[in-house]
Amino acid sequence: MGFTILGTGKAVPEYVMTNDELSTMVETNDEWIRTRTGIEERRICKKETITDLTVEAANNALQNAGIQASQLDLIICSTMRGENITPSQACIIQREIGADCPAFDVNAACSGFIYALDIADGYFARKKVKHVLIVSMDNLSNIIDWTDRSTCVLFGDGGAAVVLGEGDDLLSINLTSVGNDEVLLIPHGTNSSPFYEHEEKRAVLHMMGGEVYKFAVNAMSAGIRKSVSDAGIEMSDIDCVIPHQANMRIINASAKNLGIDREKFFCNIQHYGNTSSGSVPLALDEANHAGVLKKGDIVAMCAFGAGLTSGSCVIRWNK
Ligand code: ACO
Repeated sequence: MGFTILGTGKAVPEYVMTNDELSTMVETNDEWIRTRTGIEERRICKKETITDLTVEAANNALQNAGIQASQLDLIICSTMRGENITPSQACIIQREIGADCPAFDVNAACSGFIYALDIADGYFARKKVKHVLIVSMDNLSNIIDWTDRSTCVLFGDGGAAVVLGEGDDLLSINLTSVGNDEVLLIPHGTNSSPFYEHEEKRAVLHMMGGEVYKFAVNAMSAGIRKSVSDAGIEMSDIDCVIPHQANMRIINASAKNLGIDREKFFCNIQHYGNTSSGSVPLALDEANHAGVLKKGDIVAMCAFGAGLTSGSCVIRWNK
């Protein structure tokens, strides 16, 4: 099927916010956050804009792939929160890196990277492209209620990009959506129309944590099971799992459910928290640069998020 991953590159803000610092802002503590989530610190945008980060990640991925921006045939940016409502963040990236190709955004919340891979697969299948850039980035610090301890401890800013080329290293991919705006919702800002009659919710993240937790464990387990079966391989063939970094307990429970050795799950949630759609490619990039991934490895990736959406895939690492 579809493509091969030619290169990866990340970008995260400079500022590191520790659990101890958060404990001075809301009633929480390092021990609660570590044991309930696995998070020790996260990066928060102070000076950086989403454009700074998306462009940095894009350039890093191009360099890692050995591809020039002029060789790109398509740019997809997965984000919930580009710099503007329009133009898309992908169009801004295209201009900044000097590419000359179609560019658009996709919003599938934390599952956005897997959704973008699936879209790219269609372009490769139709032979419309030779090189595709996917940039997945969110800055949730922008839309978190910093007085709500049940959500503000969970998230961070950052993300990563990948460059795809022609190949057959995508072995299977699956997406799901279940429309639901009760358990996880980030409303738009104020409607400026003087005619609008509806009551508006605050433009911050609203989450029923326990409900998302149950959905997440189920989505990760079912998604990986289906993608493994569709790829025609066994669970034991998987060398590495790159899971959405939302909560270490969700990752541990999914590993147990699936009977995959926990050591095979690559985790960097300790340092970044949940970076939404940036999370899976950020972990993939760090696994790439840490030498965790070996040529020929079978890698499963999976994510879940608002929508409710989920995505999973199995690829052969061929770098
Ligand atoms: N510090 C200290 N205590 C806290 C904190 C905090 N930061 N937050 C909540 N508590 C308290 C609660 O008030 C509660 O106290 P009580 O028992 O006196 O009422 C207690 O801790 C337990 O709260 P729970 O909500 O039951 O804690 P739980 O163990 O379920 O963990 C968590 C909460 C971490 C949110 C978990 O449910 C979770 O990870 N859910 C999934 C979140 C997720 O994956 N989100 C993805 C979003 S993706 C996207 O698309 C944006």
